[in-house]
Amino acid sequence: MTVDVAAARKDTVGTDHVVHLDNAGSALVPRPVADAVVAHLRREEQVGGYRAAAEAAARLADVHSSLARLIGSSPGEVAVLESGSTAWATAVSCLPLTAPRVLLGRTEYWHNVLVLRQLARRDGLDLVVLDDDEHGQVDVAHLQRELDRGGAGMVALTHVPMGGAQVQPAAEVGRACRAAGVPFVLDACQSVGQLPLDVAALGCDVLVGTGRKFLRGPRGTAFVHVRRELLDRLGPVLRDRRRSADGEVEARWLESWETGVAGRLGLGRAADYALDLGADPVRDRVTVLAETLRDRLAAVPAVQVHDRGLVRSGTVTFSVRGRAAEQVQAHLAGQGINVSTAPLPPSAAAHVLDPAARERDVVVRASVHYYNTEEELDRLAAALP
Ligand SMILES: Cc1ncc(COP(=O)(O)O)c(C=O)c1O
Repeated sequence: MTVDVAAARKDTVGTDHVVHLDNAGSALVPRPVADAVVAHLRREEQVGGYRAAAEAAARLADVHSSLARLIGSSPGEVAVLESGSTAWATAVSCLPLTAPRVLLGRTEYWHNVLVLRQLARRDGLDLVVLDDDEHGQVDVAHLQRELDRGGAGMVALTHVPMGGAQVQPAAEVGRACRAAGVPFVLDACQSVGQLPLDVAALGCDVLVGTGRKFLRGPRGTAFVHVRRELLDRLGPVLRDRRRSADGEVEARWLESWETGVAGRLGLGRAADYALDLGADPVRDRVTVLAETLRDRLAAVPAVQVHDRGLVRSGTVTFSVRGRAAEQVQAHLAGQGINVSTAPLPPSAAAHVLDPAARERDVVVRASVHYYNTEEELDRLAAALP
């Protein structure tokens, strides 16, 4: 099966207006997602928010099922929250750590590192930043040595970094964590919607995803999976534990009661949309487009491509000689091409832990999705200053 690009573009109004190569920032939502959000807001306008939510109860329950199917989880293990950062902080701050050492990758998302630093100060945790290997991926042998030393209470990894191409070997990390009996927290905010994800194959206990990036959901939506065995032991959270009809604790008790219902419905629709396309065809098309873009950029004399990783995602990072990344971004925006800027890995974690660390290099980030075309990639290469 392959992605029907013409159909995907027909569903994506924004492709008529911009060359959108900022899917790692916030992708273009497809029409069915926008429709789900707008229709609910219209109903709120007519009958009020509470009644509109009551009418949508069945569809709201389906949101958890759709997200669960997307990542091989179950509806009771999924909570919907308002941002990936909040979801990660909420789950991790109530994980019951049985040992004080927290191991984290060097490409860990900066906000996660800030949360860990606060927890380390409060609870006396010891943060250990794992080495990278020669490909800019987490060194699994180093992870194994640290696990063998004992005293590890948790491992945190960001699957695809904010400003880099590398896809971390999450399943290998998951296997090592399972064997050592150490909880594994995977930040999949940049991978959900562009890569196939399965929590069992990844061996993760917690997985966090955000709605607006490659999943193509509305802004202000995110979700977290927490493995059933951990759910009963999470705490403390300033809320009542929520149980299903058969008495099991559900991840939903991490959610706040008040929420953007329209956004939730849009997130569920985005998950269904991704499920309909299939994760493998999406990954295959994103991979081809990203490699094509790397080739196109490498052919431009003033351009340096920075991507690393044995397996690479849809994020392409580059710089243009003599131009700041922000200048390149503004120049391209003037020609109807959306890209963004991002700090290069690996130093995100190191920088937060050591403020004296060298300022990180900021580069241009062009991130492709399946609805982009080769012609759009040519336009980007031709438009560079
Ligand atoms: C790797 C990664 N994790 C987490 C987040 C945070 O997600 P949110 O912006 O929904 O809080 C981002 C956002 O850029 C990210 O790139």
